[in-house]
Amino acid sequence: MKVTVLGASGGCGRWVVELALERGHDVTAVVRPTSAAPPDGAEVIRGEVTDLEFVRSLPLGDVTFCCVGQRRRSLFPWSRLLSPPDLVQTVARHLVAAQPKRLVWISAGGVGTSRERLRFPITLMVRAGRVGTGYADLEVAESILDGAAFPTTAVRPVTLTNGTAPQPVGAVERFGLTSTVHRRSVAAWMLDHAEAGTRSVPPALLGTSRAHRSMALPGG
Ligand SMILES: NC(=O)c1ccc[n+]([C@@H]2O[C@H](COP(=O)([O-])OP(=O)(O)OC[C@H]3O[C@@H](n4cnc5c(N)ncnc54)[C@H](OP(=O)(O)O)[C@@H]3O)[C@@H](O)[C@H]2O)c1
Repeated sequence: MKVTVLGASGGCGRWVVELALERGHDVTAVVRPTSAAPPDGAEVIRGEVTDLEFVRSLPLGDVTFCCVGQRRRSLFPWSRLLSPPDLVQTVARHLVAAQPKRLVWISAGGVGTSRERLRFPITLMVRAGRVGTGYADLEVAESILDGAAFPTTAVRPVTLTNGTAPQPVGAVERFGLTSTVHRRSVAAWMLDHAEAGTRSVPPALLGTSRAHRSMALPGG
């Protein structure tokens, strides 16, 4: 497949690029002018995804992955936002105008229909400070992309971590304080989902669970 990855410099985006290259896909990595270089092997296009004309000019392939997300100065929920508060919804609007063939993008556990699956402490956390700003942005982005004329998948992971060990990944019922999933596993799941075509139904909430051991992803 020809795949295009927006946010290819981020934790998940880098893994989507790397695993897509390993799987033999033709990868275009889109990053901003100041971003760290994405993994070697992809064609790199630099520009601002907040600029409509830039997004419309992108060579969007068979599947577009969007891993763009707000950055904060630190993990502390009230730390300063380093991205516009409406970043993801802006990119969502631009993608609707650019009309990719298919979009798989990262939202978050707790957005949309997955909100009711949050345990109480996580409900408080996702409202806190700039984390709340990020969730509000994702809510709007989901509503924009739900109305798109092309197939879209919003991936809603639980808390992201940086491990690389293979994990059983799939739908989980609850998002609690101990719910985590590796960024690498989320990227592998996104690629599996894209490769399966539109017949694959995405879960409301993506995480790891013993219940998924029988369907553990080889690359995840
Ligand atoms: N953290 C969690 O536990 C968690 C859980 C569920 C869902 N999520 C969602 O998953 C997303 C992806 O996670 P991640 O760990 O891969 O995030 P990340 O490492 O912070 O990557 C964010 C990506 O967005 C880009 N970006 C940020 N501000 C931008 C701007 N103004 N213009 C253009 N690009 C911009 C970054 O580019 P630069 O490299 O140039 O900064 C980077 O490529 C998060 O942002 C969040 O919405 C997170």
